Amino acid sequence: MPIESGLRGARVLVTASSQGIGLGAARAFLGEEARVVVNSSNAERLSSAVNALRPLGEVHGVVADLRRREDLDRLVAETVQKVGGIDTLVYVTGSPRPGVFMEQGYDDWSRAAELLVVSPAYLARRVADAMETEGHGGRMVFLTSTAIREPIANIATSSVCRIAVAGLVRTLARELGPKGIRVNGILPGYTLTGRVEDVAADAARRQNTTPDAVLKSMVRDIPLGRMGTTEELGRVIVFLGSEMSSYVTGAMLPVDGGSLRSVG
Ligand SMILES: NC(=O)c1ccc[n+]([C@@H]2O[C@H](COP(=O)([O-])OP(=O)(O)OC[C@H]3O[C@@H](n4cnc5c(N)ncnc54)[C@H](OP(=O)(O)O)[C@@H]3O)[C@@H](O)[C@H]2O)c1
Repeated sequence: MPIESGLRGARVLVTASSQGIGLGAARAFLGEEARVVVNSSNAERLSSAVNALRPLGEVHGVVADLRRREDLDRLVAETVQKVGGIDTLVYVTGSPRPGVFMEQGYDDWSRAAELLVVSPAYLARRVADAMETEGHGGRMVFLTSTAIREPIANIATSSVCRIAVAGLVRTLARELGPKGIRVNGILPGYTLTGRVEDVAADAARRQNTTPDAVLKSMVRDIPLGRMGTTEELGRVIVFLGSEMSSYVTGAMLPVDGGSLRSVG
């Protein structure tokens, strides 16, 4: 018997999804006939994404800046208004400014913590409220980074702040499991998106080389010999965001072509 995702008609909110990993996740859920709400902070980019996704199924856009409390409240309220509730939350977010530790000041840490710690925790609370009100459980999938296991020098604030997401996932899994809400995390390794091209361009400037040379050096250490695609990541997000993973909660799953070396 083929494995069914059971997502037909499911209501899915994917944050930070006008491009890159979030857009790939939205595409993957639409492929399963879910009803999808996409989000980003930029009306123009979001509208292009909605137009690109529309041929694939039911999709709505909500412009909201994930760093702003009132936007997070409105994002959940408008999602519920548009599709009637939330069965799956996929939390993707933007990236803090790249740079090594000694380049970061108080404001950089403050902004990174707002984006990578406060925002996912507060949105999880609002979404859990909405799921509890409906009373039939739900799923949350938080995208973070392999940098939480093995810090990456050039993205110091990200390597530090994203570790909070692992604590959030475990905390929520324990507290919300009895209510039928499963919560898991994904640690993407290098996935080919605009963000990776930006990181490569930044590293190239510092190392006085070309972005292409940096991209090649990034791939050199990946056992599978290449970066992942947003489609490949999308399939794993769908797995954790559907009943295909019905006995999995509190897990942090690397999707990195084998690049993490640490055990555990
Ligand atoms: N790609 C990788 O290899 C990789 C690996 C590990 C972790 N990550 C992390 O995964 C996340 C997504 O990466 P990506 O490669 O897909 O990046 P990307 O291509 O740059 O896409 C980032 C998305 O975030 C949205 N966004 C940015 N700031 C936002 C805000 N304040 N509120 C709402 N939406 C916002 C952007 O939309 P607007 O600009 O339209 O708002 C865009 O849709 C990032 O946090 C990245 O650091 C990426």
